[in-house]
Amino acid sequence: MSKAERVLVVDYGGQYTHLISRRCRELGVYAEIIPEESALVRQDLSGVKGIIFSGGPRSIDESDLDQDFESDMKHIREYGIHVLGICFGHQLLAVWKGAKLSAGGNPEYGETKLQVLDDESILQDLNDGQSVWMSHSDEVVEIPDGLEPLALSGDSRIAAFKDEENKVFGVQFHPEVAHTPNGRSVLERFLRNQCGYVGHWTPEDEVSHILNAIQREVGMGRVLMGTSGGVDSTVAACLIKKAIGDRLYCVFVDNGLLRAGERREVERAFEEMDFKHFVVIDASRRFISRLKGIEDPEEKRETIADTFIEVFEEKAKQLESEFGAFEFLGQGTIYPDRVESAATGKGTSVIKSHHNVRLPTWMTLKPVEPLKNLYKDEVREVGAILEIPDYLVSRQPFPGPSLAIRIGGSVTEEQVDILRKADSILQHELQDHAIYASIWQSFCVLLPVRSVGVMGDERTYEQAAVIRIVESSDAMTASVARPEWDLLLGIASRIVNEVDGINRVVYDITSKPPGTIEWY
Ligand code: XMP
Repeated sequence: MSKAERVLVVDYGGQYTHLISRRCRELGVYAEIIPEESALVRQDLSGVKGIIFSGGPRSIDESDLDQDFESDMKHIREYGIHVLGICFGHQLLAVWKGAKLSAGGNPEYGETKLQVLDDESILQDLNDGQSVWMSHSDEVVEIPDGLEPLALSGDSRIAAFKDEENKVFGVQFHPEVAHTPNGRSVLERFLRNQCGYVGHWTPEDEVSHILNAIQREVGMGRVLMGTSGGVDSTVAACLIKKAIGDRLYCVFVDNGLLRAGERREVERAFEEMDFKHFVVIDASRRFISRLKGIEDPEEKRETIADTFIEVFEEKAKQLESEFGAFEFLGQGTIYPDRVESAATGKGTSVIKSHHNVRLPTWMTLKPVEPLKNLYKDEVREVGAILEIPDYLVSRQPFPGPSLAIRIGGSVTEEQVDILRKADSILQHELQDHAIYASIWQSFCVLLPVRSVGVMGDERTYEQAAVIRIVESSDAMTASVARPEWDLLLGIASRIVNEVDGINRVVYDITSKPPGTIEWY
């Protein structure tokens, strides 16, 4: 397949638009998301055999079907391109051909059974009353001659149609989400059987595509980057280094709140990966003194973020005076970070701001975000292709504010030290155990709550540690892991025996929601 072969995904602000492009990539077809405002009529569509119109949160209005839309559709037809509309896209294409739309009234949400009328086209593998995932309130109610209904849902509602003349398909349901069990086959049949994509796009192609993009973006410029040793910033740094070589300058800030041995491990890894400019700053004292007396978790976060920026800025200025100005700031932002901060386009709602996306105000550097379109598992795949050591690629996520948000109450050097020791025991015990590969995060939390205990003949009155082990695929939801009882008992016993300051250990059995993964 030539690199020019690609599918375009027109984004109408749908929650799942990005998943559509991901599914196409998984099917071996390179996908590009373009905003709905992009005038297709002015685009060079060579290499495009299919276009997918995404879902979206709003209702169709007159401006959606104006002269510009007509011109776009004419342009698409001239190129002989096939079109698939999903949800809002389905409604748009049907109404364009004269179908009637019923606004609001009769929503379908969640799992819905499908009755397939024509099982020879893209719905071939959904032919026996299978479930699909719906999420709409407007619906196409009457379709004119020329449009053929392909499937019904519920009370004879039009769930899919075909417009043979214009090479157009519409599906009201979402084939891109995992809740539509055979949804992948709908996209596959559209891409392969209808559009004729051969489909040899591979993760290796993705890597060279990203490398080319970095080279185009950065030119002969220089990139400054904060690296934490986490998966995202490490993979992003490796890509940037591969693209522009030693014009990348990495800064690692030791905030004094890291896990046992972490700084040395990261330092050694970057040295082994041959990073010429990898600067480590020990700012432990500054962070700990700024955190003194702060108990509120959000205030801790803010203080740590501000201190980080301060330390990073000082180093940046020093590096600039030594090597000359930087034009770019490398960042390990991945796609879900952008969803959370609503940086993906209009129509998505703000869930929470994410530290990766917020640039410090003083920085006029242009962001370089090589992973911005990828999901965590894809980032790990890229990491493996780049031959980044497995212990870095498979690391558990670790929050920017580090151990500070795992300590209840005031953060002092002594408290960090106690937590670090307990956490290190937990990690070592788990790493030796099969469960480690299947969990999302495992850590200890230090509770400034004292309770009475007895050790030997002595009465103790010390703090408690919480063990938290969760399973998740994206941190948006999480379930509690169920390690063997004996494993937990062994860890608890080691913590109480080996860590001064802790005399009680509890296991957190709260899922997310209603809990969050971190305690503070
Ligand atoms: P919560 O606690 O919100 O955590 O369920 C979800 C995921 O985000 C991580 N996390 C953070 N990461 N800065 C970060 O960089 C933060 O302030 C922060 N708070 C939570 C958490 O470790 C989990 O993976």
